[in-house]
Amino acid sequence: MTIEWYPGHMSKAHEQMAELVRRIDVIIEILDARLPVSSANHLLAELRRNKPWVKVLNKNDLADPGVTKAWVRTFEQQTGIRALPLSAKQHREVLQLPKLCLRLAPTRGKPGRPLRAMVVGIPNVGKSTLINTLAGKAMAKVGDKPAITTCTQQIDLRNGIILSDTPGVLWPTMSDQNAAYRLATTGAIGANALDYTDVGTFAAEFMLTRYPDQLMARYQFTELPEGPLPLLEQIGKRLGCIVSGGGVDLHRAAEAFLRELRGGKLGRVSFEEPEPAAPHLESSGEAPEPEKESENERSVNPCETPC
Ligand code: G4P
Repeated sequence: MTIEWYPGHMSKAHEQMAELVRRIDVIIEILDARLPVSSANHLLAELRRNKPWVKVLNKNDLADPGVTKAWVRTFEQQTGIRALPLSAKQHREVLQLPKLCLRLAPTRGKPGRPLRAMVVGIPNVGKSTLINTLAGKAMAKVGDKPAITTCTQQIDLRNGIILSDTPGVLWPTMSDQNAAYRLATTGAIGANALDYTDVGTFAAEFMLTRYPDQLMARYQFTELPEGPLPLLEQIGKRLGCIVSGGGVDLHRAAEAFLRELRGGKLGRVSFEEPEPAAPHLESSGEAPEPEKESENERSVNPCETPC
């Protein structure tokens, strides 16, 4: 199935953004650290007007750490661009952002001369979470359904910085369907615009190729299923996605698998790496580090992720 998704308010948001960029000092672009190319707004470079540009690599807690380091190096080779990996839920990490913005616009952030920053990002990338963490209270709606914010709003952080929060914007035609599928895998595309079995198959294929050890660890496979559909079937069995008669409900299996992948149950995963593959890339490609859970808890528990 071809993925297309461009709700009406997004076209208006692009026009607002072009107008707004004239009046701000710094652009804050929120990217998904797991897919910093596909989650970028490719029209932003045209609108930019040479303003300092911070690329926030959000959801860093879910991304492969070695790959994120390589992305930071890649982005910072570009003039006027700084890259900042963080998790929008972590207050201490988020506090680096205002400090960086003030360094990029040193004449601003003073009484009577606030620093104005435009915050942009595709739906579901964590823009509202980041703004709420920065503001110290709920200023923007957070949700797991993409495209919740539909108009630009101003937020005075009361530290010399005023944010303009723009609605989550995608672009009119998803000419790169691989990128569209990566976006769908991470939850940036509305559920009504995708076929879960297709997206689950895409994600299963990717994981088999790139993070087989993490699949083995999560689902306690002794050997990997050969191909994405057998993999989804095996996962469906483990998660209890069974129809009457004993077969696997592939749709529900794909949905449950994507929920696990998006929630970090398969460990830290990045869907895009800088091109060409940098020799210094320190990607682990290994089973996830046990952080809060013990080794046994990290393996799938059907009760934990019911189908
Ligand atoms: P948006 O404004 O860009 O559309 O995104 P929003 O902040 O609403 O966040 C979308 C989802 O992503 C939310 O999940 C939010 O909690 C989660 N999220 C945002 N930033 C991070 C991050 O740095 N790390 C992780 N792991 N998740 C992040 P949700 O399903 O609504 O979850 P929750 O509110 O139950 O946590």
